[in-house]
Amino acid sequence: MITSVRGMNDLFGEEMARWGFVEAKIRSVFRAFGYTEFRVPALEKVEVFSQTVGEDSDIVEKQMYTFTDASGEKLALRPEGTASFMRAAIEHQLHKQGVGQRYFYYLPMFRGERPQKGRLRQFHQFGAECLNDSSPESDAELIALLDTIFRALGIEEFTIRLNNIGDEPTRIKYREVLQSYFKPSLAQLCPQCQGRFERAPMRILDCKNESCRVIARKAPILLDHLDPKSRAHHQLVKAHLTALGVPYVEDPYIVRGLDYYSQSAFEFDCQLLGAQSALGAGGRYDGLAERFGEAPIPAVGWALGMERVMLVLEAKQLLGTQTLVPHYFFAPLGEKAFGTLFSLQLSLKKEGVSVEMSYEKGRSLKSLLKQANRSQAKQTLILGDQEYDRGIAVLRDMETSQQLEIPLKDLKVELMRRVGHAT
Ligand code: HAM
Repeated sequence: MITSVRGMNDLFGEEMARWGFVEAKIRSVFRAFGYTEFRVPALEKVEVFSQTVGEDSDIVEKQMYTFTDASGEKLALRPEGTASFMRAAIEHQLHKQGVGQRYFYYLPMFRGERPQKGRLRQFHQFGAECLNDSSPESDAELIALLDTIFRALGIEEFTIRLNNIGDEPTRIKYREVLQSYFKPSLAQLCPQCQGRFERAPMRILDCKNESCRVIARKAPILLDHLDPKSRAHHQLVKAHLTALGVPYVEDPYIVRGLDYYSQSAFEFDCQLLGAQSALGAGGRYDGLAERFGEAPIPAVGWALGMERVMLVLEAKQLLGTQTLVPHYFFAPLGEKAFGTLFSLQLSLKKEGVSVEMSYEKGRSLKSLLKQANRSQAKQTLILGDQEYDRGIAVLRDMETSQQLEIPLKDLKVELMRRVGHAT
């Protein structure tokens, strides 16, 4: 049997219906906040990510799906949305269209990670990006937006962890401070962090390895070394969140694994998830445009992981059943009845009345009623050749088993009227 790629799932049936229900709720929050949808292609030139996300990031170092196409161009399947979004924003000069442009996307992302609960190789992100806005208000709005989405879905068991990682010169100085702190304990760090020591010492701070964590917890923190502008920005973001009633904790160890961040960095950690506890994360990326060779364009955003959201909603049993229940089930018995009901169900569907009918011929009433029960339709229309000759059909209430006869000539009008559709 040829199966799907490990960590890449098929979605269908009841599960797909639940996803659709959640997606619609999230889209309605975006609408209220004035974010319009953005779509970028699944494939990008590899530099879109290698130049921006960071050569030392896990994504670029080992997780990107890349290949060379027939023309010799090196391409990558999109591992995240922000670099693609900025590539498109610059290509279409969107930043010139005004301050504070708000976009959202809902797209599959691809990362060659080791699959586990809440971690897939193809996963889906809803993302929000506010372009050409350097105000602390936009950071606060973005965080409040993600908070609103989770609460609208019924998720409250999360902690917002907020940090400010300063501007580029501050981080260069801080890296040196960190290197002198970690140097004496280099041998106790995990092999990966030993590799990070020279190129990306800040990444040691969010390593999940226990021995690294013990050492990292005593490291000097960037908040104590912040430049005055970043410090003022951070104070304002915090003050806005407090005024908005959005609870957060300050966490100096949130440094994010992607290189393009500056200033605000945040994660929404969910207590109901296991090791992969981040429901969503993001931050400010004022320097990203420069990595494309452009003048700086201030921007802030986040992305949430749909698979993780669905895990939480299922654990909380908040989704119920989302199956589409048809208005009617049609049970034809005999050839003449079959032809009549086949045409009638199609003409009802055109009017917006939903009907389920199997095209398998010669079935018994018992087997048709079994399928009718499974469909959850409240009413089943039964038509045998005998009824056909008498010019009537039988409508059965599936709950009470009561049956009533309807003249064939009135059938369409009557079936529409019964579900509130005028003719
Ligand atoms: P990220 O932290 O890499 O950020 O991913 C954001 C969210 O996507 C995570 O918090 C998690 O919920 C979900 N996620 C990430 N990897 C996986 C995976 N392998 N399987 C399932 N879910 C996953 C970004 O991608 C940034 N582009 C966010 C951003 C937007 N920053 C600014 N704007």
